[in-house]
Amino acid sequence: MNRQLAAITGIEAYVPEYRLTNIELEKLVDTNDEWIISRTGIKERRIQKEPGKAVSDMAAIVVKKLLQKTNTSPDEIELLICCTVTGDMVFPDTGNIICDKVGIKNAFAFDINAACSGFLFGLTTGSKFIEAGTHKKVIVIGADKMSSIIDYTDRATCIIFGDGCGAVLLEPSTNGYGIVDSVLRGDGSGREYLHMKAGGSLKPASLETVMNKEHFVYQEGKAVFKSAVNGMVDTVSKVMERNHLTKNDIDWLVPHQANIRIINSVADGLDFDKSKVMINIEKYGNTTAGTLPLCLAEWEPKLKKGDKIILTTFGGGFTWGATYLTWAY
Ligand code: COA
Repeated sequence: MNRQLAAITGIEAYVPEYRLTNIELEKLVDTNDEWIISRTGIKERRIQKEPGKAVSDMAAIVVKKLLQKTNTSPDEIELLICCTVTGDMVFPDTGNIICDKVGIKNAFAFDINAACSGFLFGLTTGSKFIEAGTHKKVIVIGADKMSSIIDYTDRATCIIFGDGCGAVLLEPSTNGYGIVDSVLRGDGSGREYLHMKAGGSLKPASLETVMNKEHFVYQEGKAVFKSAVNGMVDTVSKVMERNHLTKNDIDWLVPHQANIRIINSVADGLDFDKSKVMINIEKYGNTTAGTLPLCLAEWEPKLKKGDKIILTTFGGGFTWGATYLTWAY
């Protein structure tokens, strides 16, 4: 008997209005437009500036649009997964806050913290509830307000990250297309290179941690770069091999948008034609869990039913992986 697949039946995305350009960053740190573009491919990022607004506010905008677009009532949603490292609060989960803000009352919700791999881990998790036959409508959100944990005096990190959010509706596939397979990985020893030092149970917030700027992203860029390329090439290769796919079978590669040089190295490592690679890093920078749904939403008008798509990510943890899906509409 064929397995019941989960399919993406709708997608929406949102980025805040404010554009933080390279020229503006030149005024904050010792950097320049040419260096940022040549080393990262980023021209600008969006920043959620309004006081009192958080990840749940971006997500609420997206979820409301998604429900409307897919003709779904909030009451029909049974599970909502919010993938983020910048949730509104340490607890409760931001997923619960989003449900409250959009009127979802018959669901359970939780967050997934897998940094830049969050959306991929969430997509796989959400799809399993559909495959098991217990849930029929699941929302998976990838959202981050990276500006809330970035030190705008640290030129090694402030040039990279931005804020953004995207979400998909998952339903049982009715045409055989959907989320087919994932190869997901983690290696906690990578935490040394990418983390936030304080604010957790290891080092609770104190005057000292604030003074030492320990509530911001700490990153050793070179180590992350190498692991990211190797991790994405390896998991994409594995998922292709497992599903008997060659590069010519794939219509779209959707890589995490961390750095244009990482994206190019992954495409070269897989010998993929660049015209099949979704890239929008120049507009948004690295929005962590937001990058994959932001790409899919932008390319949605070009996608055709049956298109073979591979999503791949790498992020803090380390966490990484690749998912193979066929577009269902
Ligand atoms: N502007 C100008 N110069 C900068 C700079 C900036 N914003 N940031 C670093 N530099 C300088 C460094 O001080 C160094 O100078 P030196 O040679 O005099 O010492 C030089 O540029 C090279 O720095 P380096 O850190 O080796 O640059 P890089 O080519 O590795 O690029 C990153 C830095 C952060 C852009 C890159 O390592 C990267 O993108 N890593 C992956 C990050 C990532 O994807 N993180 C998200 C996880 S998914």
